[in-house]
Amino acid sequence: MLFKFPTASQAREDEVTPRELFLSRRSLIAGGAAAMALGGLPVWSGNALAGPFQAATTIKPADPKFDPTTPMKSATTYNNFYEFGTGKSDPAENAGTLKTRPWEIAIGGEVGKPMTIGIEDLLKFPMEERVYRLRCVEGWSMVIPWVGFPLAELLKRVEPTGNAKYVAFQTLNDPKQMPGLRSWVLDWPYTEGLRLDEAMHPLTMLAVGMYGEVLPNQNGAPIRLVVPWKYGFKSIKSIVKISLVKDQPATAWNKSQPREYGFYSNVNPDVDHPRWSQATERRVGDFSRRKTLPFNGYGEEVASLYAGMDLKANY
Ligand code: MTE
Repeated sequence: MLFKFPTASQAREDEVTPRELFLSRRSLIAGGAAAMALGGLPVWSGNALAGPFQAATTIKPADPKFDPTTPMKSATTYNNFYEFGTGKSDPAENAGTLKTRPWEIAIGGEVGKPMTIGIEDLLKFPMEERVYRLRCVEGWSMVIPWVGFPLAELLKRVEPTGNAKYVAFQTLNDPKQMPGLRSWVLDWPYTEGLRLDEAMHPLTMLAVGMYGEVLPNQNGAPIRLVVPWKYGFKSIKSIVKISLVKDQPATAWNKSQPREYGFYSNVNPDVDHPRWSQATERRVGDFSRRKTLPFNGYGEEVASLYAGMDLKANY
């Protein structure tokens, strides 16, 4: 990855965020301890097509006092989406060319019921708001209220066979809409992957919105992955294809720099990137740095997925 810390773009929030879909944030019931417990994941019963999302409740980070939500303007103007350029302000400036309708995801491979599903049907899944930390491998982080649903809900519908061990994801690959594809910075299309149990984990979500709004193009519209315990690059944007596969799939960053970006990419303050430490991070908007937490603070929920694995070898 290219590493720069440019000043935040001055773009106005209402210039970068379409408001055709609106979530009444007042309808959120502030999540209490019960909402954080994985056992009782809260659910929205909203229908995006019908208008406002109706939030039943929300999941918050463990201690909101120390984890204020990142201003929406920062989260929508300081982005990584190399299909629209490598600068942090490039996606907000250039992603207007991305056409998010019509949009389909083709799901196949080791499944009993392969299918192609349109965005309108994806928006009918029961929606949840989840306030997750996103920790970029570059050393910055944000706290973002996503709107979406567990990836597992979609994967269950295609009935993975016993051969399905991994899930491979692919981003749209259209140079007419994505000017960054003309540069050789990555081996396009952008691809990512998870082990099947990681993909089925209740924390892993497909997001279609953030801050109660439709996902802005620069954040991966119309649908992107969010895997909160892994470095941000695992959270692939603008997904058009999902394949359930037997073998560990190739991923864009691992192909580009295998020594620097492993398949697992769990947030791990004890495993430095070859060119810099991962022990601390700077929350976007803060001046000082804070300690990075193992699994980005989600260890209680996900550490068991890696029991017995050497997480230094499997970085
Ligand atoms: N997905 C695609 N298709 N292309 C990208 O360049 N960048 C990744 C990830 N998903 C990227 C992508 C990286 S490096 C990060 S840190 C996150 O998106 C950033 O998500 P955000 O811009 O919504 O904060």
